[in-house]
Amino acid sequence: MNTPSINITAATLENQQKQSGSTFPTAYACQTPNATITSAAHWVTDNRDNLLQQATSHGAVILRGFPAQAAEDFDAIITALDIPNFPYKQSLSNAVRVNRTERVFTANEAPPGIDILFHHEMAQTPIFPEWILFFCEQAADQGGATQLCRSDWLYQRLAQECPQFIQDCEKKGLTYSNVMPAEPDTQSGMGRSWRDTLGVETRQAAEQRLDDLNYSHQWIDDGCLRATTPPLPAVMEVSPGRKTFFNQLIAAYGGWKDSRNDPADAIRHGDGSRLDADAVRQAIAISEELSFEAHWQAGDIALIDNTVVMHGRRPFVGTRKVLASLANMQTHAFELTT
Ligand code: FE2
Repeated sequence: MNTPSINITAATLENQQKQSGSTFPTAYACQTPNATITSAAHWVTDNRDNLLQQATSHGAVILRGFPAQAAEDFDAIITALDIPNFPYKQSLSNAVRVNRTERVFTANEAPPGIDILFHHEMAQTPIFPEWILFFCEQAADQGGATQLCRSDWLYQRLAQECPQFIQDCEKKGLTYSNVMPAEPDTQSGMGRSWRDTLGVETRQAAEQRLDDLNYSHQWIDDGCLRATTPPLPAVMEVSPGRKTFFNQLIAAYGGWKDSRNDPADAIRHGDGSRLDADAVRQAIAISEELSFEAHWQAGDIALIDNTVVMHGRRPFVGTRKVLASLANMQTHAFELTT
């Protein structure tokens, strides 16, 4: 996988996982000292199809030692991949983020002590990105790993260990409910205001947008808005016979808590029934067992297939600058059958 003037080779990572002949995550390292971002971007263009295909089959591709130092360098690598941008502004993400370039933003402005639990990006909304890219501009002094989990492996384990729960997830889907503040709350991992989340200025426009999305809603104290999604899928068949636990169940059940939100109200099956608490605990335990901790080094880039791999963020000490980008907007919907 070489391009003139840059030598990039397959690399091994500490604690890389192997299952059924698949390595997770896969990795490449740049071996050329003083390589330029232009030559790295050329290499990415030359190897685009292979990189995307590997991200899907392995779940994630980590690029280490690449000559990327700033948001603009990360942007150049993403541009070289030639995948359509999914602007944060258009997303229904509940995280507070700050744009650094048109297609690069801070990963989540939540305080360092907050553990962001495993989730598929935006699986709790009708629109989600196929791809997520992360870039480490500055690693934390301690902690701050991005944890990754192969969701197809998680699905297989749950199908064996909690078959009734998996059947309920597939048959009933999931609905999510959260309370959005009137103004951004950077003290929360889910503090994006309803105005920013919905891209509106007024209550009337918010109600219209939620109606269009088939959400139900309720205005509550201090101008906050509770929004509840229509039933959404909990499992995705990403290719024939390959299913993933594509949802935000773990994060919503265990982590959607702040001054406005109680996790007990955050998630139900699509028919309104409660989740099996023991099975959810089992899902959390298996995901932790399958977790790969990406310990960042400055300059690292991760290309993740969001339909295959869940991610989260460990708490940290010091300054941690991990930037993100989303690409290729997809939609999903769920038909509740009786
Ligand atoms: Fe995320």
